[in-house]
Amino acid sequence: MLRETPMDGRGAMRIAVFSAKPYDERFLSQVNGAAHDLVFIEARLSARTAQLAAGADAVCAFVNDDLGGEVIARLADLGVKLIALRSAGFNHVDLAAAAEAGIAVARVPAYSPHAVAEHCVAMILTLNRKTHRAYNRVREGNFALDGLLGFDLHGKNVGIVGTGQIGAIVARILTGFGCAVIAHDPVENPACIALGIRYAGLDELLEASDIVILQCPLTPETHHLIDEAALGRMKRGAMLVNTSRGAVVDTRALIGALKSGALGSVGLDVYEEEADLFFEDLSGTFISDDVFARLLTFPNVLVTGHQAFFTEEALTAIAETTIANVTAFERDGEPLHPVRAAPRD
Ligand code: NAI
Repeated sequence: MLRETPMDGRGAMRIAVFSAKPYDERFLSQVNGAAHDLVFIEARLSARTAQLAAGADAVCAFVNDDLGGEVIARLADLGVKLIALRSAGFNHVDLAAAAEAGIAVARVPAYSPHAVAEHCVAMILTLNRKTHRAYNRVREGNFALDGLLGFDLHGKNVGIVGTGQIGAIVARILTGFGCAVIAHDPVENPACIALGIRYAGLDELLEASDIVILQCPLTPETHHLIDEAALGRMKRGAMLVNTSRGAVVDTRALIGALKSGALGSVGLDVYEEEADLFFEDLSGTFISDDVFARLLTFPNVLVTGHQAFFTEEALTAIAETTIANVTAFERDGEPLHPVRAAPRD
């Protein structure tokens, strides 16, 4: 834990923590001690709320905060010098705009890949054995088994798209279940090769897999990687699980594949338009996103609200790395885990 006060006499950094939930406050405050001046702001960071960072040296942001060019320009005007992301993914940051504005960007490259991998496997088990439906039935005194039929995971083909830190752990867990794992990734992971996992092209993976797992980052190349054509290549009745980023899947095409019965089941921890929904209690209102509302009508679709990362261990690690990023930036002018814009061709 980092608890020391900065030694260089310049004093603590003031950090405006956006999208701050009670759990963010708990874990960040615990790790920070008296090191920096944390200001917790419930609002999401946007062009409208950026002004709340006035007086801050750094902003701390999460996955659905807006870090586009306009927001970055406003933060620069306010004198913000560092954006400390509480996430691994940085697809929502205009890195070129940040570089131009002289704002450093830091992230948490690894917090608990186990948290995400285990949630992914929980989704597979739930969808397969329908424990979510069984739970409700039994509470109503309905012990009938019709509609709860699953399949043995043992011996099934599982395709993992993206075998980085998280994908490799999913591969190891599912190998333990006796699944035959195929992987697709431009960079082969030696840990997966050591498990006996075979790498293949995306089309071959889609055609061969009973379960397809998406665990790659969102990049221009992976945006709508799973579109109508890709869904058309999947085995009839296959399961698709996305624990990466929503826009890796074309949701309208996904609904089409569900309506036609081509897909057997779908697990989503992320959704391409999740920014207006996830992390908020909307139970007292209605869902105005018709595409999302349609998804919820399928009994073979399981949606969780971007909770795969949400474990004690992961929140502790996120807080530790975030505070360490800010402390290193204050001391050396460079965060511990910088994210830089790719050089322009
Ligand atoms: P990582 O960087 O260790 O691994 C990503 C892998 O994807 C790399 O091996 C990379 O070569 C591969 N990849 C890149 N482009 C690809 C493509 N076109 N096709 C196939 N593979 C490709 O990242 P890590 O830690 O495993 O996380 C992966 C993603 O999971 C993150 O970028 C983030 O979007 C998502 N994530 C979701 C969380 C959640 O709570 N649902 C929490 C944490 C991460």
